[in-house]
Amino acid sequence: MWWNNVETKPYGGYPQFWDARLLGMLDQAHQDAGREAIWDPSQRDGDQRPYGAYEGMTIFEAARHSEQREEVALGYEPTDEQWRSPNIYEDTATGSRDQRDLLNLMPAALPEHETWFFYLQRLCNHCTYPACLAACPRQAIYKRQEDGIVLIDQERCRGYRKCVMQCPYKKPMFRDTTRVTEKCIACYPRIEGKDPISEGEPMETRCMAACVGKIRLQGLVEVKEDGSWVEDRDNPLYYLIKTEKIALPLYPQFGTEPNGYYIPPRWAPRAYLRQMFGPGVDEALEKYSAPSRELLAVLQLFRASQTIAFRYEIIEGEKVFETTINGKKWEMFNDTVVGYSKSGKEIARVSVEEPTYIRPGKHYNAI
Ligand code: SF4
Ligand code: F3S
Repeated sequence: MWWNNVETKPYGGYPQFWDARLLGMLDQAHQDAGREAIWDPSQRDGDQRPYGAYEGMTIFEAARHSEQREEVALGYEPTDEQWRSPNIYEDTATGSRDQRDLLNLMPAALPEHETWFFYLQRLCNHCTYPACLAACPRQAIYKRQEDGIVLIDQERCRGYRKCVMQCPYKKPMFRDTTRVTEKCIACYPRIEGKDPISEGEPMETRCMAACVGKIRLQGLVEVKEDGSWVEDRDNPLYYLIKTEKIALPLYPQFGTEPNGYYIPPRWAPRAYLRQMFGPGVDEALEKYSAPSRELLAVLQLFRASQTIAFRYEIIEGEKVFETTINGKKWEMFNDTVVGYSKSGKEIARVSVEEPTYIRPGKHYNAI
């Protein structure tokens, strides 16, 4: 599905160069306004400013300092050519020493690879402040109260494409054959527990459920009137995003408060990652590289069930391993994490140590 693409960073993008283009426009708006887009990580304030204060302009503010004064948010409509090649630059690495100097990439505390690329899985972020919704002159886009899913009403849409222009992530897609725009619907029947196999429990979307790499996890959290999250320490998503802060929003400087979060890759240059995920990158990587006992257990919940886990519990196991990470002692325990559905049913039980099966000699070459 085009709605849900994977691009190879730093060169890949769908539509082509979507992020470089918008970052460039945002830079230009700052220059025109005589301002700088800087993060001040020292100004952290709980859930309101979890990574510090962004002292630049978001895409909403920047529109007023550009030629797009009439628009709600800074943006552009990609050309047909830019939409043409979803996998362009797939698996193309960067990072020769010459380029490193050229890109002014900072050395990192962890070993970086000389040559690097990483995959960025991209889908609609069902933003807290969706620019697509704000931009539509037909009010054809709405955000559902019950779960925050952002949908385009296909009956109301007249194909004005302001949403395509102003979604910074370029996730609404205009369809030539129907003359209306479509986007990810977050598999809402599954979230509602209406899928025939869900037995009434909220289920993860198909893209989550189908991830063989076991790197996607989805959840639902309660939000307050002001958009901040109700504290829910035992919800796996709350724990990963708010307590441990190892998963970060994509381009938070855009200002839509995206609800897709990424655990950044360890080997890519930090300056590049900070631009992409904000100043929380260093702390996230430090925690991810030497996970706490609880974090290691919670990470086992990734892809352990198609049913959304609303709560987890940890059963402590024995110590099984010990090493040194970044000069500090690190211990591993074979704990078991248990996930529970919305109604409180057990949906997953996974241990840190996976069972090992030794293939008998006569089957060495068998699949
Ligand atoms: Fe709208 Fe784009 Fe945010 Fe999705 S990612 S909710 S399409 S602004
Ligand atoms: Fe509105 Fe986008 Fe349709 S701007 S009319 S939802 S194409």
